This record gives sequence, structure tokens and C-alpha cells, in this order.
Amino acid sequence: MKKILITRKLIKESEDKASKTFDPIFNSNDELYSQSKVIEMSKGCDGILSSLTEKMDEETINKLPDTIKIISNFAVGFGNIDLEAAKKRGIVVTNTPEVLSDATAEIGILLILGACRRAAEGIESARDGGWKWSADYLIGKQLTGTRLGVLGMGRIGQKIARIAKSLGMIIHYHNRSKLSEEKEQGAIYHDNLKSLFSVSDVLSICCPATKETVNMINKETVEYFPKGAVITNIARGDIVEDEALIDALNRRKIYAVGLDVYKNEPNLNPGYLKIKSAFILPHLGSATKDTRIAMANLAIDNIEEFFRTGNCTNKVN
Ligand code: GLV
Repeated sequence: MKKILITRKLIKESEDKASKTFDPIFNSNDELYSQSKVIEMSKGCDGILSSLTEKMDEETINKLPDTIKIISNFAVGFGNIDLEAAKKRGIVVTNTPEVLSDATAEIGILLILGACRRAAEGIESARDGGWKWSADYLIGKQLTGTRLGVLGMGRIGQKIARIAKSLGMIIHYHNRSKLSEEKEQGAIYHDNLKSLFSVSDVLSICCPATKETVNMINKETVEYFPKGAVITNIARGDIVEDEALIDALNRRKIYAVGLDVYKNEPNLNPGYLKIKSAFILPHLGSATKDTRIAMANLAIDNIEEFFRTGNCTNKVN
């Protein structure tokens, strides 16, 4: 049986499956391993089932034992892994697409609603005993008839677009390529960022973090938005230059943000915490029991498929 280091504690059903599929090393205390601990623990292993909390950069990958043939990431995103460095060492990297699209799209919608309808301020006021009702109290932005810009119209972006459309929003999007009419479902394509941002009353960031998308929201591009726009992010924090967005919030150029992901998680830029209109969640996109089990099971299946066939459908490098 192949020996696999599983860096984080999984839900019991998935740990049971792992035990049947290979010889796993579990992390029963769910300790956050440092990079050197991952290297140390992977001695004698054939593969690693990693999470987005492990930074598998070039230095770490170069120090992994030669026996490691696969890093199966328990996430659809894989920005925590240096794909090129892994490739150079002949290590296959896989991810867990599709199974988390619905759960993540739900959080994407929650971010839009939470930011537009001032949920953060409302919750704070209700909890602090500051409850009041008046005709003009905590007036937010209604979604009906407003324009939603979807940055990255993959599976999650398409699902958010469908739900947002049912709420009366008009959907615009930017993607590397224009989708088929069937997938577009009436959404309006923009072939560049400036064009998309300039019609985005609300933006939903749904694209992966890559060299091309890092800091796409920055000092210059934030100015493309209509005044009082709302920016939400369910993808990766690396896509946003925090200082530029926080400054735009403070100037009221941007009305509110809804964020589930951040640069340097869990150490998000403290500037966001000072902004009342920031609706902030701690990376909950895929956090439902069914979805987390489906993701872990797929990460396990990816390892099984790789050792059985020498390849894997969900290989990303
Ligand atoms: C979650 O953020 C994931 O990439 O799976």
C-alpha cells in the first residue's frame, strides 16, 4: 500500500476511506505544519494530500524526498503550490474541481448580499444592543436591476451568475475567452477588465490566482468602477492589492466589500477590520459537510488513480 502524508485532519468518513485506499499518516490534532515539518513528515511517503494552508513553494518542494510522486491538493485552487517546481521534480499536482462549485457559489451570493445590504453593520448593531428601527436606518443597496460583473466565468462564476440573475441582476463578465451562448445564459461578455469594471455595480471575483490575475484589483483598476461599487471575492486574496482597495473604501469610491479570501491568510490586512461596511468571512467557500467530504474523497481518488494508471484526470501541472 502507498504511504501518504495527510497534512490536515479530514472528516471521519474521508479518513476511513483513506485508510482503505492507502497507508495514511493522519494529523489527529489538526496541527498546522510548518514547511520543515511537512518535509520531515513526508520521509518514506509516496505522496502528500495537502491543504491550502500548506505553502508548497519551490524551496519546500526541492527538499521533499525523492519518493514523493504526487501532491494531491484538497482544494480547487492550487496557488499554494509551485507547479513548475513540482513538475521539475517529476511530482504530479492535482486538485478537486466541480465538487465545491455549488457550496462556493452560495458563499459568493452571501458576500454580495452581505456587502450590499450592510449585514456586518446590522449584526454588530443587533448584538451590541444598538437595535433600532427607522425608515432610513442601515439603508443598503438593492440588487434588483443592478449590474453584476463576474470576473472569471468558470463553474463557480456561472452558478453565481444564474442565482444573481434570478435576483434581478444584469450579468456582465470577463473571461479569457467568450463562453458559448448556452453557458453565457444572456450574460454580456467584455474582452478586457476596464470594460467589465466600468459597468460593475457589484463585482464577484471568481477567477483562479495566477501570474496574470495577481493584483488585478489595484490602484489603477479600482478607478474603473462606478462610484459606490461593491467588490466581492470568493476566489483568492492574491487577486486584490489590499492597500488600494482599503484606500478606495475609505474614500467611498468603493461602497462595501464582501470577502471570504485574503492575501496571507489567516493574517488578513487589519485595514479591513476597521471598515464598518466590510462583510468578512474566514474562507468558508466550501465549508459544508457534504462538500468537504466530496473534496477529500476526490483528493483520495486522485492519488488512487495516479498510482493505478500513472496519470490523473485532475492533474494541474
Ligand atoms: C478553496 O478555497 C478551494 O480552492 O478549494
